[in-house]
Amino acid sequence: DAPVLIAPSLLSADLLDLRSELEAIETADWAHIDVMDGHYVPNLTFGPAMVAAVRRQGDLAADVHLMVTNPDECVGLYLDAGADVVSFHMEAARHPHRIVSQIHAAGAKAAVALNPGTPVGALEALLGELDMVLVMSVDPGFGGQSFIPSTLGKLRDLRRLCERVGAAPLVEVDGGVGDVNAADIVAAGADVLVAGSSVFGRPDRAAAVERLRRAGYL
Ligand code: DX5
Ligand code: ZN
Repeated sequence: DAPVLIAPSLLSADLLDLRSELEAIETADWAHIDVMDGHYVPNLTFGPAMVAAVRRQGDLAADVHLMVTNPDECVGLYLDAGADVVSFHMEAARHPHRIVSQIHAAGAKAAVALNPGTPVGALEALLGELDMVLVMSVDPGFGGQSFIPSTLGKLRDLRRLCERVGAAPLVEVDGGVGDVNAADIVAAGADVLVAGSSVFGRPDRAAAVERLRRAGYL
């Protein structure tokens, strides 16, 4: 199996010292950037300028998670800003196929995100086009929430669905991921672990990244 990718979520970083935070996680793979619009989720966070700034600093790929009501309208801004991976919520998209094509035309990886309450079957028609599926393991909007245990069964359902339709997207898990559950999450089918508070809530970010990485090999 390919090694698990680690994507620290900047939502939990020290925003007044973002340059040092990005340096501290340089052994990770992706920088996860949560875009929240205050409508799709109550919280309000980063926009395209943040994506461009992260992209200019260091070598981490920009993993952009759009939690917005209008992904159809705004995805282009994030592609122009240099997003390497773009996830949009299936629940919010009007024309998901068109969004995926737009992401691919810009040379980025396309992913669909599913809330905890959305069954994996919602993806079936789109699965063959996707580079990645983002499985939310908390309801989106805030860092530091607890991992919803039924996500493990959902990951196994997703793996079965992928086998049935002959698709092999990466699977990213986001929300409440830490050293205690990382091995189970990877065993259930995750390829990419997003980690906010379990990385930036620790004094030694680099050590936290390495612990998650090791858990992926257990
Ligand atoms: C939640 C965001 C997550 C968040 C995860 O809506 O999508 O990316 O940063 O934070 P933790 O790892 O603390 O649950
Ligand atoms: Zn996220």
